[in-house]
Amino acid sequence: MQKAYEDIVSSYIDQKVGLSQCFLSDKLATALRANLIALNSGDQLERAGIGNRAKRSTDLSNRGDKIYWLDRSHKDEFEDQFLNQMDEFVAYLNASCYTGITGYEFHYALYEKGTFYKKHLDQFQDNKSRAFTMIMYLNVDWKEEDGGNLCIYHEKHKQIVNPKSGSSVFFKSSDLEHEVLSCNQQRLSITGWLKTD
Ligand code: OGA
Ligand code: NI
Repeated sequence: MQKAYEDIVSSYIDQKVGLSQCFLSDKLATALRANLIALNSGDQLERAGIGNRAKRSTDLSNRGDKIYWLDRSHKDEFEDQFLNQMDEFVAYLNASCYTGITGYEFHYALYEKGTFYKKHLDQFQDNKSRAFTMIMYLNVDWKEEDGGNLCIYHEKHKQIVNPKSGSSVFFKSSDLEHEVLSCNQQRLSITGWLKTD
């Protein structure tokens, strides 16, 4: 995993957006994708909200994804593996970049065909604890015509990230506005935030 961690940190330092094509092993990505599909079939996903959990609205004109929070209490082997890897990554970041991360939260996200997430920042106005955003895509054979790209707004240019399985994105939550463009296929990912107190 060391190589993936180094790739993320070096591209983050150079371009404000950390990228890796191999953060999750194929085996783990496949298992997490199967989990998400099963959760959706079992009607376990909830409509994502805007704003923090206390003050949120579910305005479909802004955001159309459905989510499910990962938690060790689920006793799911693959969620545990994922969270173990995040513990390792956080330790790496704190040791190599003095990021001072003290916690995290991650959810599965599923965008049905025709849904999107309009341009936004990931930090809430009344809660600055989200320091870094991290997204891991779980879409096998994602094609150009499937849409659903992540568009990141830099000061002078836009960066497009294709949500294909294996790729991971990392950026500062307070810094970069971004948007999920409308997808023409069901779009699967795990999204989360590394937090400071
Ligand atoms: C988010 C988000 C981007 C993506 O959940 O806040 O911006 O590519 N997701 O899924
Ligand atoms: Ni976001």
